[in-house]
Amino acid sequence: MSSTKTAESALWKLINTSCITLDKIQDLNDFKSSDVNFRIALWNPQTNGMRYLKTLIYNLCAELSPQNRDRLSKIKNRNVGEPISVNYDGQAVCMDYLQGVYEIEFIADHLHLDDMNIIEIGAGYGRTCHSILSNHLVKSYTIVDLPNCLELSHRYLMEVLSDENLSKVNFIKATDLPEMEMRHFDLCINIDSFAEMEPQIVQNYLDYIACHCNYLYVKNPVGKYKDPSLNIMPKENEVSIALNMGVLRDVLDIHNSSEVINHSIKFLAAYKPDDQWILVADSWARPWSYYWQAIYRRSENHD
Ligand SMILES: C[S@@+](CC[C@H](N)C(=O)[O-])C[C@H]1O[C@@H](n2cnc3c(N)ncnc32)[C@H](O)[C@@H]1O
Repeated sequence: MSSTKTAESALWKLINTSCITLDKIQDLNDFKSSDVNFRIALWNPQTNGMRYLKTLIYNLCAELSPQNRDRLSKIKNRNVGEPISVNYDGQAVCMDYLQGVYEIEFIADHLHLDDMNIIEIGAGYGRTCHSILSNHLVKSYTIVDLPNCLELSHRYLMEVLSDENLSKVNFIKATDLPEMEMRHFDLCINIDSFAEMEPQIVQNYLDYIACHCNYLYVKNPVGKYKDPSLNIMPKENEVSIALNMGVLRDVLDIHNSSEVINHSIKFLAAYKPDDQWILVADSWARPWSYYWQAIYRRSENHD
């Protein structure tokens, strides 16, 4: 029996029938440089500037700490799917996995990831799962997603992970999550996907997390934007649908740090699973100006 409590939003219905159709994910050859990944982890640089993207990646590589460099080199097979990369210090590096190591750095500064049972809601092609399993001896990693991305992450992780790590990954359809009443997880991860769901669906997930998890790591935009200088020409209906998604719908100047910081206060309130949860840490989530990240924990007295 599947449930509508975690169903796909109007936005994701559109995406799953245009950019991430099943026929486009049959072949992993170049999906990271195509429409598929431009709706998952990376904006299309054709519209935003290949030169700027590569320059940004290069500069971020130059500033990587030795520990993050080491984390990156432990993630094998990052070249699958032909990512847009630069070569730095002997390794090919793309933006998706740079973000992966920043995410791990923030989480690992506050939590001991080894031995955890992790659940990730909305994993895209699975870059975060790949990054974490390559760096930590987690017990299990459960991915909850809509069917198309679930198939993509399944196919991708089969190709990039060792058999031992793959055996730790469970793939669950979003509509089947409410049936997992008996499961308990140490950590839930949500990156760049609550902002693309209808507000009630986000609330349903937060209710699930409040009951079934000990920690939540969330990284998402602090609000929406309508910046004409970005020259975005996507399908007009996708913009209007996107503006109505998520629980943070204020339009702000995303390249104004004061506005971003002001909106981070709303972010921290919106993603707290319930009143008995406690904020552990939060910060700006580089490199995108308007992304924030936070870790919350369930209070010891939670019923
Ligand atoms: C923009 S992608 C981000 C993917 C990944 N976290 C990353 O940062 O690379 C959004 C993800 O959320 C998933 N998603 C959207 N609506 C969902 C829902 N109702 N339940 C579960 N996953 C959902 C999409 O299928 C996709 O995997």
